[in-house]
Amino acid sequence: MTAEKPVRRIVAIGSGKGGVGKSTLSANIAIALAQRGVKVGLVDADIYGPSQPLLMRAADVRATATDKKLNPVPTPYGVPMLSMGQMVDQGRAIAWRGPMVGGALGQLIDADWGDTELLILDLPPGTGDVQLSMISKHKPVGAVIVSTPQDLALIDATRAIDLFAQASVPLIGLVENMAGYICPHCGERSDPFGHGGAETAAASLGVPFLGRIPLDIAIRTASDAGTPPVAIGGPGSAAFRMIGDRIAAWLNR
Ligand SMILES: Nc1ncnc2c1ncn2[C@@H]1O[C@H](COP(=O)(O)OP(=O)(O)OP(=O)(O)O)[C@@H](O)[C@H]1O
Ligand SMILES: [Mg+2]
Repeated sequence: MTAEKPVRRIVAIGSGKGGVGKSTLSANIAIALAQRGVKVGLVDADIYGPSQPLLMRAADVRATATDKKLNPVPTPYGVPMLSMGQMVDQGRAIAWRGPMVGGALGQLIDADWGDTELLILDLPPGTGDVQLSMISKHKPVGAVIVSTPQDLALIDATRAIDLFAQASVPLIGLVENMAGYICPHCGERSDPFGHGGAETAAASLGVPFLGRIPLDIAIRTASDAGTPPVAIGGPGSAAFRMIGDRIAAWLNR
């Protein structure tokens, strides 16, 4: 009798544009799900600008390989991970062309993940050919789209929704990041990027709204220090956990 190959599902985190918080969300929901007992791994698909090694405090760990299969790198947060950042020296530019990028990502995904049941795939910014071929080839079971709250979010979200539709990847829902800034000095709340744009966009596009993460300097400083908020009970933890739970509920539906 042959052992059945474990069914490992991939959830992709994407966005219409860069810098909206895909990597921050990916790291925090992976940790949140691991805290819930899910066997979850993290793949940084941003081949040119990997950020997960820093976020997950695994920047100076090099990935090894056994029998031509990569071994995921452990992190302090119970989430094994793989990123190009663990293959090349930090700060060195990667100048690969399309087919090599596809091959490299394939190796990260087809690594020796053991009993990992869920892979969170942190996609690079944009909705171009690279992203399309990545998701077409590796077939995530679902996708989460991150957006900032301004009205323009609708346009970006639509582009991201299109990308996943083209690859027939179902949408789990939309997350609004950088909503409502609380001034660290006076405590007053302001909305530098507007408020509710992503939720309105989700409603008008008929996509589930998964939650809202506040704009908080402490989220950035904790992330930069390699201690994602969820790992240390920092700001935004509750929101990240709720979004993680909603993704888990979708997977178990
Ligand atoms: N809610 C937040 N509050 C404060 N800072 C945040 C928040 N979310 C993300 N950031 C910060 O914004 C920057 C961009 O976030 P991140 O790298 O997660 O975005 P990204 O969408 O993955 O970017 P890229 O498109 O370059 O991959 C980071 O410095 C991060 O710490
Ligand atoms: Mg990123």
